[in-house]
Amino acid sequence: MEQYELDAIESIVTRQQGPYETITVDTLTPVIGAEVSGIDLSKELSDTQVAEVRKAFLQHHVLVFRDQELSDDDHKRFARHFGDLHPVTLPEPGSDPYILEISATKESHVVAGDGWHSDGSADAAPSLGSMLYVTRTPDGGSGGDTLFANMHLAYEALSPAMKTFLDGLTAIHDGMVAWQGHTPPDGYVPPKEEHPVVVRHPETGRKLLYVNPGYTSHIVQLSPVESRALLDMLFDLVARQQKLSCRVRWTPNTLVFWDNRCTQHHAIWDYYPHSRYGRRIAIEGTRPKA
Ligand code: SIN
Repeated sequence: MEQYELDAIESIVTRQQGPYETITVDTLTPVIGAEVSGIDLSKELSDTQVAEVRKAFLQHHVLVFRDQELSDDDHKRFARHFGDLHPVTLPEPGSDPYILEISATKESHVVAGDGWHSDGSADAAPSLGSMLYVTRTPDGGSGGDTLFANMHLAYEALSPAMKTFLDGLTAIHDGMVAWQGHTPPDGYVPPKEEHPVVVRHPETGRKLLYVNPGYTSHIVQLSPVESRALLDMLFDLVARQQKLSCRVRWTPNTLVFWDNRCTQHHAIWDYYPHSRYGRRIAIEGTRPKA
């Protein structure tokens, strides 16, 4: 690794601070992801518990809570500690407006999130984070993991010259990219927004790379050929550099809470013909700012 890559990793690790009094936090990798135990999310949480979960969230970006027995109301109550709930886009008639079913079966032709993306980045104010509660994992006990990448590290590990080039550029995030050639339902116009390529996390102020292959169509200030080449290079960083990411192996009744402002994720559909089922709640966010 280049020295600036090593420095970037070290600066992330040294910023992490324990100890915790009310929860146990075990990291998945030094740079992203942690398992949190010693907390029952079906119960009312104390202010200290919520503050410690928030601290762990800002440090590790992806928190895994296992063996949780949660009703929809428990799920929503936990989510509301971090903000208002973000309504589901295109909810099924009669369904809960805040709960998105993430379901894959033998009959599925596409599966939500099967590619690197950040949830809803084509929105003017993409969600702060998502909480996915998976109750059914594929039969046989393997497959259906989710990868999460740390986009602070993706930015910080770039060469100083590349960082200078990217600072100040903006990109279009287009909901049509996510439809991948399929036609959206009648009357639905997918969102489209311009966001800075490098943004700052609204709570920590730290910079990160904010483009993703699930939504970003092009960089405004470059020619189409330049934009494609640069975006492909930036997307490849995430796809090829395992040191940026952690891998969550789901077990039934696991809730994962991830920060959409500074991570991307990829739900791996490697378990056909088996089924996987979960329910996802998103939390309102703010407009990304440089
Ligand atoms: C998603 O929100 O993209 C789905 C994640 C998953 O199914 O693991």
